[in-house]
Amino acid sequence: MIAPIERTLAGLRAQTAIWRKAGDTIGVVPTMGALHQGHLSLARAARAACDRVIVTIFVNPKQFNNPSDLDSYPRTEQDDARKLESTGVDLIYVPSPDQIYPEGFATTVTVAGLTDMLCGATRPRHFDGVATVVPKLFLQTSADFAFFGEKDYQQLQVVRRMATDLDIPVTVVGCPTIREEDGLAMSSRNLLLSDRARIKAPMLAEVMQDIRAQLLNGATMAQITPDAKARILTAGFTKIDYLELRDGDDLSLLDQAKPGARLFAAAWLAGVRLIDNIAV
Ligand code: PAJ
Repeated sequence: MIAPIERTLAGLRAQTAIWRKAGDTIGVVPTMGALHQGHLSLARAARAACDRVIVTIFVNPKQFNNPSDLDSYPRTEQDDARKLESTGVDLIYVPSPDQIYPEGFATTVTVAGLTDMLCGATRPRHFDGVATVVPKLFLQTSADFAFFGEKDYQQLQVVRRMATDLDIPVTVVGCPTIREEDGLAMSSRNLLLSDRARIKAPMLAEVMQDIRAQLLNGATMAQITPDAKARILTAGFTKIDYLELRDGDDLSLLDQAKPGARLFAAAWLAGVRLIDNIAV
C-alpha cells in the first residue's frame, strides 16, 4: 500500500498525537526526494527500529548555494511514494514551503567548527541551511529516532552536534553508504551524469580504496596524495575540492591511519560534484 502523503503541519501533528497516545515510537527519515536505494535503506532501518516511520520530502531552499542548482534538483514525488511502498513506511510528509518557512521566519542555526572544512569550505551557508531545517523536521514529526546516511558523513556529524547542543530528544542513527555494483556511491546527482561520465565516476571510489590500503600499510597522506589526485584527474575529473584523511568524530585533519579515521573526497566530473567517504 502506498503510504498516505501529508502536506500540512497540522495534519502531521494530528497523526503523531494518535501514535504518541498509543505509546508508539516514531522514526523519521529526512530526504529531499528523488529517492534511490540509499534512501530506501534508511527507511528500512527505521522500519526495523521504530513502531511508526515518517519519511519527509522537502527540497530545502536554504541549503542550496545557487538558484539554478535548486531549480534543477529532481522532483519525483509520485515515483518516490511508489518506491517507498516496499519499505512499509507509515506516512510521507511533503510540507509546502510555508509549513517550514512561514512568513516572518527569521531563525538560522549555525554549527561552528565542524562546518569550517570539507563541504563547508566550498559550499558557504550550506550547513546552516541543513542545521536549520533538520531540527524543524525533528520537532514537527516529534521523532524519537532519526536516520541519516554516512554518504553525507559531515552532515551526519553536524546533525549529531546540533541535536546534542539543542537538547532535542532524538537519537541520531548513522547508516552505511549504499553503492552501485561498480562502487559508485548512490546519489540523486548521479542522474545528472552523461553515459560517458557515468563510466568514469567509479574511479573516485577506486582510488579511495587504494589510498586506504596504502594508509593501512603505513604510508602517510603527504606521500600518497599527489599520485592519487593525479589518477583522479587523469580519469577525467576536472577539479578536486578535497581529498583528506580526518578523524571520524571531530573531523580534525590527520596524516596517518588511526582507529576512527575516515577518508573524504569531493571532485567534479562533467559539471557534477561527487562526494564520497570511507572508513580507514
Ligand atoms: P538527501 O540528499 O535527499 O539525502 C537524504 C538522506 O539519504 C541523507 O541522510 C543522506 O545521507 C542519505 N543518503 C544519500 N545517499 C545515500 C547512500 N548512497 N547510502 C546511504 N544513505 C544515503 O541529505 C539531505 O537530503 C538533506 O540535506 C536533508 C538531511 C534532507 C536536509 O534537507
